[in-house]
Amino acid sequence: MARALRDASLTFALLLVAGCRGDQHSLDPAGHQADAIARHWWFFLIVSTVVYVLVAVALVWALFRRKRNADQREHDRHSMRVIGLSVGITVVVVFVFLVHAVWTNRTLGALPERDAIRIEVTGQQWWWHVLYKDASGSPYLTTANEIHIPVGVPVKIELLSRDVIHSFWVPNLHGKIDLIPGHRNALMLRADRAGVFRGQCAEFCGLQHALMGFLVVAQPRDEWERWLRAQQQPSAPPQTAEQARGRELFVSSQCAVCHTVRGTTAFGHTGPDLTHLASRRTIAAATLPNRRGHLGGWISDPQNIKAGTLMPPSDFGSEDFKALLSYLESLR
Ligand code: CUA
Repeated sequence: MARALRDASLTFALLLVAGCRGDQHSLDPAGHQADAIARHWWFFLIVSTVVYVLVAVALVWALFRRKRNADQREHDRHSMRVIGLSVGITVVVVFVFLVHAVWTNRTLGALPERDAIRIEVTGQQWWWHVLYKDASGSPYLTTANEIHIPVGVPVKIELLSRDVIHSFWVPNLHGKIDLIPGHRNALMLRADRAGVFRGQCAEFCGLQHALMGFLVVAQPRDEWERWLRAQQQPSAPPQTAEQARGRELFVSSQCAVCHTVRGTTAFGHTGPDLTHLASRRTIAAATLPNRRGHLGGWISDPQNIKAGTLMPPSDFGSEDFKALLSYLESLR
């Protein structure tokens, strides 16, 4: 019995510790703001736990204490003193919470906008359009669903929506903020360590809200700059006859109506820019790992994976389909 109890509590403790780590977790902060939010959360938890224990002890004491035969008036006076003291302590605790919340809020807004990297993110059912902009606001790079940022540098994320309300949330880096049609919101964040952090749309936005994820890749500055330079290049020319055939199919079929591949005649804007598709870790907004099998499944029947997505099914013959996949895989 004692052993079972020990094993159970050990398992519980391990689960608890494991639950506080991860690439999509607000209690595993990797940035300036998430750190302040996590500290705020722990502060609330600790104070609330102390209050809870004190109230429970007082309750048990009140239930089991021996009644003295004091006169009624003395008893009433004593009760009023206890009630008055409890109300006073409650007010103080709530006030301390308020001060801590205001202080945390100031920390969240403390990043300087000057010299920040500007990224515009537009949410739409159910993926994220990502635009890198220079200091004057001119865009210089378009990508989708995977946002790369340098470690230790403030990043200003401007948020828009093309259709309904979405919410941008990368728990390891910051709290959530809504993307509202016709309105521009902004969020300042800074990653303090490298890593790949998962983000998630946090506002119900239709059938596939749960499959509207994204990744934030925080990397050392020189690595980030290499990534940026590579992404700014037009798509790689085909290296094999099969890839060339795939490109031909891509630009002459329905793919090109919705997608852009820079360096070809495909410049649709309905779906994600695919110029460097193969460099991304996931497809379909962090829904599937970016591997040939998943890519094939997605292209042939996207409705089976993400019902309601704008991407229609396709029916290429098997040789054409293989060529198309080879071409897409060459878009590094
Ligand atoms: Cu977008 Cu939920």
